[in-house]
Amino acid sequence: SLFEHFCYSHGGMRHTSYTCICGSGMNSSVLHYGHAGAPNDQTIQAGDLCLFDMGGEYYCYASDITCTFPANGKFTPDQKAIYEAVLKSSRAVMSAIKPGAPWPDMHRLADRIHLEELTKIGILKGSVDDMLKVHLGAIFMPHGLGHLLGVDVHDVGGYPEGVERIDLPGLKSLRTARVLQERMVLTVEPGIYFIDHLLDKALAEPTQSCFINSEVLQRFRGFGGVRIEDDIAVTTNGIELLTCVPRTVEEIEAFMAGQKL
Ligand code: GLY
Ligand code: MN
Ligand code: MN
Repeated sequence: SLFEHFCYSHGGMRHTSYTCICGSGMNSSVLHYGHAGAPNDQTIQAGDLCLFDMGGEYYCYASDITCTFPANGKFTPDQKAIYEAVLKSSRAVMSAIKPGAPWPDMHRLADRIHLEELTKIGILKGSVDDMLKVHLGAIFMPHGLGHLLGVDVHDVGGYPEGVERIDLPGLKSLRTARVLQERMVLTVEPGIYFIDHLLDKALAEPTQSCFINSEVLQRFRGFGGVRIEDDIAVTTNGIELLTCVPRTVEEIEAFMAGQKL
């Protein structure tokens, strides 16, 4: 409600682009939390991660931004590790985007970095190349990396004639499989989530469970999830970042402590 007030009182935005998604604790791993069946009504607890996915609509154009932050202002070591894994994939993708880059390759890049970082944290073990072959990335990021953004939040034009949906875990959820062109506007929204039914599915599948260190994973049950979502425009040789919010762990902790950035 505060965000809606902010939108209306700054620039006179009459609407948000979609119903705010304000998950905390376990609900930060529910991808479209906030709908009528789960109406953003959980009380936020100290120690929770909050995942707030909210965007104002300005002159009929949508924005779509996600901030994930600790409710009490300080990341735990595990929250910091997962957050920084997602931030690393977000920044790697942004560095790789340019005209001519296929969007599915950007999704694959995010998956690769998540798997590398989850291995460093100790949740996974073994060869990341082999993990990619069994689509382990989709267990932790069961949605597409991002989408075209415009007059609708999930804008049209993702699959014009000649562009086929890729029928593989994770990639099949992409709202576009296009090759990027200058002046396209998209979201970049990698995430790592600990979703019990997907983790149980992977543990029951020997080709995937062989990469999982189940004792370490146990510590992350109930963690929720982290998504970092930015809006970008593709330029001649890279991107213009359209989002300006605290992003690093240090920036978020300073912001939460009331320090001016
Ligand atoms: N807010 C919906 C999405 O991120 O696609
Ligand atoms: Mn969003
Ligand atoms: Mn989005």
